[in-house]
Amino acid sequence: MAVFFVTEDWDEELAKDTKQRRHNRRRSKKKSADEIHMDSESRKFIKSLESSKGTSWMSEKKYKRMFSEIENGLSGVMGDGPFEWVDRRVFDAVFDRLTLMSLYKLMKSGVIDTLDFPIARGKEAHVFHGTGESGPVAVKIFHTSNAVFKNLVQYIEGDPRFGGLRRRHRDLVDIWVRKEYRNLLRLSKWGLSVPMPLAVNKNVLVMDYLGTSSAPSPRLKDVKVPDPNSVYEELLEFLAVTWQKANLVHGDFSPYNIMWHGDKPVVIDVGQAVIQSHPRSQEFLVRDVTRLVEWANKSGIEVELAEAMFDVLEMDLSHVQIHEEE
Ligand SMILES: Nc1ncnc2c1ncn2[C@@H]1O[C@H](COP(=O)(O)OP(=O)(O)OP(=O)(O)O)[C@@H](O)[C@H]1O
Ligand SMILES: [Mg+2]
Repeated sequence: MAVFFVTEDWDEELAKDTKQRRHNRRRSKKKSADEIHMDSESRKFIKSLESSKGTSWMSEKKYKRMFSEIENGLSGVMGDGPFEWVDRRVFDAVFDRLTLMSLYKLMKSGVIDTLDFPIARGKEAHVFHGTGESGPVAVKIFHTSNAVFKNLVQYIEGDPRFGGLRRRHRDLVDIWVRKEYRNLLRLSKWGLSVPMPLAVNKNVLVMDYLGTSSAPSPRLKDVKVPDPNSVYEELLEFLAVTWQKANLVHGDFSPYNIMWHGDKPVVIDVGQAVIQSHPRSQEFLVRDVTRLVEWANKSGIEVELAEAMFDVLEMDLSHVQIHEEE
């Protein structure tokens, strides 16, 4: 009989335990509703960056409020900073805490002193004007989640068979950013005109800034260059050196991803660049050369794709030397 009672006690305990677990589950559901709210706030905020100018956006009331919600949670790792910190953290926090940590590390190491104003919002990243130890820097902060991913995740999250999806997505973003950093480094070592990469930390890439103290340089797409012929020659050689020497293909070469800085073209956005052994590298190369030929034709230069392709593949580049070993 005693055994029977003990069993009944256990049943009761079990029932209690189940109740508690249900309660906890409900609580964790509620937390994710908060997350959803935060996400939507972030989206709104990110959208507002598009229209914002200067640094005024940093002190807006609602972002201050957002910041105060997370301030306590972060004080352990951030320590007490000067007030300036607060404004910077407001905006960084909307991306997420790991992004904030990356910025913090980059600030500690002196690569970035201040984050000044947003420059551009791309499909995969925001670019900011920053100031570092030796002057202005461009800070490209990659989005760690996107709409497509968020949509997928809602069907998978919570299914114990597919845990850690967010984590893996972040890893992928981090790898992508390191790839852009390494591609920039490789291209600049071959003397190519790209912004020099200065540092990378998780989803944050810091590089040379191209522009004035108030605005970035225009894109090739937005300017009428004085001597299109020489620009064409220079860009053709850019593609040739990239292919023949650096063994890479840009993969998204277009007047959108070329800036006009100091009366010269500077090529940006090299995250998607692939090595020659990539199965689609030739296809990407043809596409890149096609874009250049299109630009040349529009600028009044008579050149054909076959001719340009031949030059890129066969151009004599014996004068081009690597600056130092990677
Ligand atoms: N080093 C830099 N200095 C100044 N401005 C820059 C720099 N790098 C990028 N930008 C600005 O940020 C914009 C977006 O940069 P980039 O093309 O690298 O990002 P992206 O997210 O891949 O953009 P998209 O999806 O539009 O191609 C550029 O068009 C340019 O205006
Ligand atoms: Mg781009």
